[in-house]
Order: sequence, then C-alpha cells, then structure tokens
Amino acid sequence: MLSTEHRIVISDARGLGFIDDQSVDIVVTSPPYPMIQMWDELFGRLNPEIKAALEGFEGKVAFELMHGELDKVWSGLFRVLRDGGFVCINIGDATRSIGGRFRLFSNHSRIITSCSNIGFDTLPVILWRKQTNAPNKFMGSGMLPAGAYVTLEHEYILIFRKGPKRSFGRDKEKLARRESSFFWEERNLWFSDIWDFKGIKQDLRHRDLQVRSAAFPFELAHRLINMYSVKGDLVLDPFLGTGTTTLAAIASCRNSIGVEINDSYKNMLFETIKDSTPVLNNHISGRLNEHLSFVDDYISNKKELKHSNSQYGFPVMTQQEAELVLNYIQKVYCTDDIIIKAEYLEEALIRDVRPVGRVPVEKNDSQTKQLKLAL
Ligand SMILES: C[S@@+](CC[C@H](N)C(=O)[O-])C[C@H]1O[C@@H](n2cnc3c(N)ncnc32)[C@H](O)[C@@H]1O
Repeated sequence: MLSTEHRIVISDARGLGFIDDQSVDIVVTSPPYPMIQMWDELFGRLNPEIKAALEGFEGKVAFELMHGELDKVWSGLFRVLRDGGFVCINIGDATRSIGGRFRLFSNHSRIITSCSNIGFDTLPVILWRKQTNAPNKFMGSGMLPAGAYVTLEHEYILIFRKGPKRSFGRDKEKLARRESSFFWEERNLWFSDIWDFKGIKQDLRHRDLQVRSAAFPFELAHRLINMYSVKGDLVLDPFLGTGTTTLAAIASCRNSIGVEINDSYKNMLFETIKDSTPVLNNHISGRLNEHLSFVDDYISNKKELKHSNSQYGFPVMTQQEAELVLNYIQKVYCTDDIIIKAEYLEEALIRDVRPVGRVPVEKNDSQTKQLKLAL
C-alpha cells in the first residue's frame, strides 16, 4: 500500500533540532513578513529589541533585527536539507512610513543575500502577480507629481538549491522521477517567471481564514512541490500556518513536516488535514481533466500528439510523460496527535468530480473523446 506520513510540530522553527541533518528534500514556506504591521507583535515576541526599535521609529534597525530572527531559520534549513535539495520561499516586500518617512523595505533582496551567504545557490525567481482592485490602492499625492508611490502588486517566490544538481542514479529513484513527471502544458505554465492565480479555485479552506492567516494558495505550494521533488520525498514547511504545504504534499504523494509556533492552530490543522481527502482528490481529477481538455484542443486544431501515457492510455506531448501517474488518496487519518498518514490508490484512474464515481481507463486507448464520454 502506497502511503505517506505528515508530522505537525508546534514549535519554534529557529530551532529545528528535532529534524535530522540532510533529511529533507524540499522546503516550501512563507515566513512572517518583516515590516508588515500584521507581524510586528510576533516579531516583538521573538526578540524584544524589535519592539523597542519600532517604538523608537528606527525602521532600518527593526528591519535588520527581524531578518536576524529569520536568518536563524534559513541556517537551520541548510543543515536539514539534503545536497541537491531546494528551498522555495514566498515573500513580499514592505512599504511603510516610519517617523514620517515613507520607504521600501526589500525583504526579498535581504533574504537572497542572507541565503546566499549561508551557502545556498540562488536560482531564477518567480513573481507572483497579486493585482488589487481596491479603490485606495494608489498612495500619495494623487495626480500631482513627485509625491506618489507605485503600488506593490506582486510577491516573490525565491528559489535556492543546496549544492549541485540532484542525481537519480538507482533504478528505483529513476522510476520515482518518471512517475512524478508533470504534463507538458503544466511545465509551460509552471516554469514561466510570472504566476497569476486569478481564476484558480481556492476551495480548501475558508476564504476569511486564508486572508487572516496570510495563507498562500494551494496551487502555489502544489506547483513548487511537483516542480522540485519526487514522490516519496520529504517536504518541510517551517512556517506552516493553516497547513497549505501539508495538503499539497499529501496531494502529491510526498511526506511532510510542518512547524508552527502558534499552538492555537493545532486543532484547526488536524481537522482540516483529516477532512481533506475529497477536496484533494478533486484537485487530482482537475489535473487529469485539464489534460484531457488540452488534448482535445490540440487534436481539434488538427495537430498530432505523438506519445502515449502507458498508465492511462491517453496521448501526451513527450515521452517524459509516459509513466506519469497521479495517485488518488484513499484515506487520511491521525495515528497520534503529531502524525497524520495518507494512503493512496496505486492504479491509474480518472475520476470525475461530478458525478462522483470511479472510472478506470482502459490502457492504450488513445481516443480521448471516448474517455470524456466515459467520465
Ligand atoms: C505567512 S504565515 C504562513 C502561512 C502559510 N503558508 C499558509 O498557507 O497558511 C507565517 C506563519 O509562521 C508562523 N511563525 C512565525 N514565527 C514562527 C517561528 N519562529 N516558528 C514557527 N512558526 C512561526 C506564524 O504563526 C504564521 O502562522
């Protein structure tokens, strides 16, 4: 039985002593953002000098002290990450007036400097476009020149690697890599440097909770995990919040550890994750159905897809997608108050979300239209 394990640890990520050296394959995370007011109080608790600096209007000092606390986490990640592993950090810059002076606090560049000093290699970043339609989005002197500021409508996803490229030497590793491949059309979207999640459903948690807790979209964590790790790998999120990374790890057949300092999140985390099977399976169906739509469009434009996926029998663009398989989750359950287990179906199935039901797809049937009728 294919299964994965997910640990939720209520603890301070500045000390990751409970995680072994070189045991983690990928980190996907978003820390509290320095110099964004909603995180002032938390940073003040992490280091009382931060509170004093803010009260004394010493913006640059507070910024540096806040990053000093995050640096402790980044150093810990370097220790626990395997050679060839990735760290993906979602972070936004901050703009703020302190002592009557407005300025930018460039969180992303400060983290790049710090991680590269620690020893990570910096890779090309992704801009997450977060357009706002708020009527008050423009700051400053309106239509009069020289006193207005550009509105920040993007965040960053910083990507780092520890050491040289990962190698997949043994047959088992090669197979896990081939089975973890993604669709060609997903590659085209995921590996572009601007991401925009407009129009992507956020049906995992309550919208209000997502905003209050500064959660990132499920799609963000899911893409990163699938881009930079393989099935069976260990994913770590040292700033777990509402558990988005754990959910994305479960949906992707990876193991995970999530660390969160706020113990009032614990019950919510377990409840959300325990009840996640239907929604995560819908996501898997969504990926398969989107691929079938892509195939339909491609074929209706009189173009030919030359390869076939050996698991589902549907056409794919490249030979690299031939063994791709997305595993539906059979059940998610808690073994104790730290560990959650997920069990998966190993066979390649396509299930539609409406009506709910399982339709095994006959192998080597490349007639997508027939597949869609079956769904
Ligand atoms: C930006 S939120 C992460 C949101 C998360 N990505 C999600 O989708 O819900 C940052 C989280 O880090 C937690 N946190 C802050 N400092 C921490 C620390 N030192 N150790 C562990 N967690 C911490 C906060 O309580 C908060 O839940």
